[in-house]
Amino acid sequence: MRVNPIMRKIYVFDTTLRDGEQSPGVNLNTQEKVEIALQLEKLGVDRIEAGFPAASPGDLAAVNAVARAVKNASVMGLARSVEKDIDAVYEALKGAEDPAIHIFLATSPIHRKHKLRMEKEQVLETAQRAIRYAKKHFAKVEFSAEDAGRTELDFLCQVTELAVREGVTVVNIPDTVGYMNPQEFGNIFKTLKETVPGIERIQLSAHCHDDLGMATANSLAAILNGADQVEGTINGIGERAGNTALEEVALALATRADFFGAQTTLNLKEIAKTSRLVSRLTGMVVPGNKAIVGANAFAHESGIHQDGVLKEKTTYEIISPDTIGLKDSKLVLGKHSGRHAFREKLVDLGFENLTEEQLNAAFGKFKDLADRKKEVSNEDIIALLEEKLVEIPEVFALEQLIVSFDSHATPTAKVRLKTPQGVVETTSEGNGSVDAIYQAIGSLAQVEAILDDYMIKSVSDGTDALGEVHVVLMKGDVSAQGRGISTDILEASARAYVDALNRLSDKRNAPRSRKDRDNVTLV
Ligand code: KIV
Ligand code: ZN
Repeated sequence: MRVNPIMRKIYVFDTTLRDGEQSPGVNLNTQEKVEIALQLEKLGVDRIEAGFPAASPGDLAAVNAVARAVKNASVMGLARSVEKDIDAVYEALKGAEDPAIHIFLATSPIHRKHKLRMEKEQVLETAQRAIRYAKKHFAKVEFSAEDAGRTELDFLCQVTELAVREGVTVVNIPDTVGYMNPQEFGNIFKTLKETVPGIERIQLSAHCHDDLGMATANSLAAILNGADQVEGTINGIGERAGNTALEEVALALATRADFFGAQTTLNLKEIAKTSRLVSRLTGMVVPGNKAIVGANAFAHESGIHQDGVLKEKTTYEIISPDTIGLKDSKLVLGKHSGRHAFREKLVDLGFENLTEEQLNAAFGKFKDLADRKKEVSNEDIIALLEEKLVEIPEVFALEQLIVSFDSHATPTAKVRLKTPQGVVETTSEGNGSVDAIYQAIGSLAQVEAILDDYMIKSVSDGTDALGEVHVVLMKGDVSAQGRGISTDILEASARAYVDALNRLSDKRNAPRSRKDRDNVTLV
């Protein structure tokens, strides 16, 4: 999308793969990161922060895979203000079309005293040294004054002035702990713009966290006061309460262009798809009432509202669902629908580039579903298609599941499983049907994994809806997510567990663990 010439362009810096991946319980593998990055590229973000390469060899490899895959966005890596981190980003971004580094150093009194144990002067010297070193390798350097929101304003001006003088391209102002309110945060940008010499040579960026629920409001206040770039994540995922939700900022700017006079160049129609993908691969379910991307964001429940919308949509609808690429979710196909209608529906839903093989597989799954479910909705079709977009080696496969439940007896599950040793079967008991299934699969797979999380949701409406189950399995310090869908929630549960086992086997070949990453201390 092009910006209207009288509108100011706001650059979008996406950190779903770095700050977003710091959400508790989220651990994306390389393939998943690449898939998200390619979708972010379609969405049209300007910059993708792909990770923190110094955290582990696995992180470095994942950033490198993203750097090589993405062609139409700048790919960035995060580094503390130390040479070894900057070297790791340099290594990771080899092969990138438009590489850039993001270095950070804390500046607030609390961080200086307790974390860095540095005086102001030492902070300035450390920042200078790091920027100079980074400039040897990179034409584009972003510098972040971590915890800028709680930094003395005159010191923040000093740090910014130094970064400008040393030749960075972007200075980022993070509200690291989500402490700011829009008036205060906006004032920081106004002051920097008005007082720092040479500020017009660089871009100013806003990076907010949502601890007090003000991340989007603070980011918009920054934009109103001169920020050129907004940082955030899809669905607002991230450390603690999360980061600014990029889709919220983009839609606020687009819907209230009259007020903000600024626009992103995002392809807004890719928002729904990007949100679904991030939710599915991270396992972080989007709450129904979440702005823009929540399931109820466009639902009108009260009679008065429904009546108004039927008479004239704009009475209660400020954004059309179509703006973010949501399709009408009425009944679309049934068991008599043919391949041609199915293919047309896929194109309509945005799956226009499937190979003949993928199309055949999807059509087979659709026919199976249509046999079990009278009305196949758009959501059902999307769920079927997105089930296996990331190909992982199938070490285990569910061949058969028989569950016996009686409210007066112990549930049992008989499972037949394909394993590297051949097809095996067993029957197990459990304190519930899901427990019995997981006991059986666990004993057949002989993988000692712990179930760390289990979530279930319905894909569409009605008692015959597809159920979608997300699980997280831990083996040692390596975690893997799994997803399963079926019209039967017990089958979906079994599929999710087997999917996670396959991903766990795959992950163990890729040396990337949560512990490596979390053990990195911040300078
Ligand atoms: O929130 C924060 O301060 C960060 C920095 C690394 C930019 O994420
Ligand atoms: Zn952050």
